[in-house]
Amino acid sequence: MKPILVTGATGTTGSATLQYLKVKGANVRAMTRDKAHAAGFEARGIPAVVADFGDPAALAKALEGVEKAFLVHPPSPEIPQHEKAFIHAAKKAGVKKIVKVSIIGADLHGALHLARWHAEVESCLKSSGLAYTILRPHSFLQNLLANVATIQHEGAIYSDNGDAKIPLIDARDIGAVAAAALTEEGHDGKVYHLTGPAAVSFRDVAQAVGKAIGKDIQYVDVSDEAARQGMMGAGFPKWLADDLVTLNQLGRQLGVQQPTSDVDEVLGRPAHSLADFARDYARAFEMEAVG
Ligand SMILES: NC(=O)c1ccc[n+]([C@@H]2O[C@H](COP(=O)([O-])OP(=O)(O)OC[C@H]3O[C@@H](n4cnc5c(N)ncnc54)[C@H](OP(=O)(O)O)[C@@H]3O)[C@@H](O)[C@H]2O)c1
Repeated sequence: MKPILVTGATGTTGSATLQYLKVKGANVRAMTRDKAHAAGFEARGIPAVVADFGDPAALAKALEGVEKAFLVHPPSPEIPQHEKAFIHAAKKAGVKKIVKVSIIGADLHGALHLARWHAEVESCLKSSGLAYTILRPHSFLQNLLANVATIQHEGAIYSDNGDAKIPLIDARDIGAVAAAALTEEGHDGKVYHLTGPAAVSFRDVAQAVGKAIGKDIQYVDVSDEAARQGMMGAGFPKWLADDLVTLNQLGRQLGVQQPTSDVDEVLGRPAHSLADFARDYARAFEMEAVG
């Protein structure tokens, strides 16, 4: 059994994919840029390779003997260049299939930078001649962990979502779907739109997190400009803050965005709910990140 390369193995969806692949007994190879993280994987019995998408030689080595790959890149303007380089390198190395994390609403003419960048890569992957599965997830529930500090210190979650209801997805389900697409038949050429099981508002989020940690949490609706300034103050680049404000404006216009059944159909079980997520991550919401 040739290995499955998992890029972004230390990240949110990559770590989940790796975990589900291990449960399935797959032969995996974790990719990270960090030697210490690679050593950590090896210590846990997971073969690992150190490579950067921007380093063709390291990428070629990472892809040696690989049969399939999970492709994810952090949100950055380098998505098109890095992911297309990965697809070309994979083809050259004899890789048979790529499962790519894209974004809901990927569109070459979309309003978001991320929608356009992912659409560009999707089109490259579709015309590469490789087998593929494209995962287009909605916003992750794990993004809520960015609110830990205000939850702890002010009992509040600030956002510009208004009353929009969004089918937020638990990234663990993205990993489970990716693992299925990498190990089971029937997923080639498919584009999955991945959502949670229900559309939830940020008031629902505040209530669910509050219930899970036994504390009263309020949702505080802020203006787009305040949200943009808050994100930039927290270190988000302007293009990303702009994308997220645009996304939330769209969400408010749409009102309710309905869930899809793709997670249920692939996994044969429902996606994790907001309540599941809040319960399972209660400790993370109670502990402030250090540094
Ligand atoms: N968050 C959302 O709500 C959402 C919704 C829909 C779609 N998406 C899409 O999901 C993707 C992000 O997924 P994620 O949250 O799982 O990512 P992530 O947690 O940011 O992890 C990505 C991993 O990639 C590795 N990495 C970073 N730069 C690299 C480089 N130059 N070369 C090789 N590896 C590199 C990092 O690991 P090392 O430091 O160990 O190398 C990092 O852990 C984005 O493309 C985004 O558009 C996100």
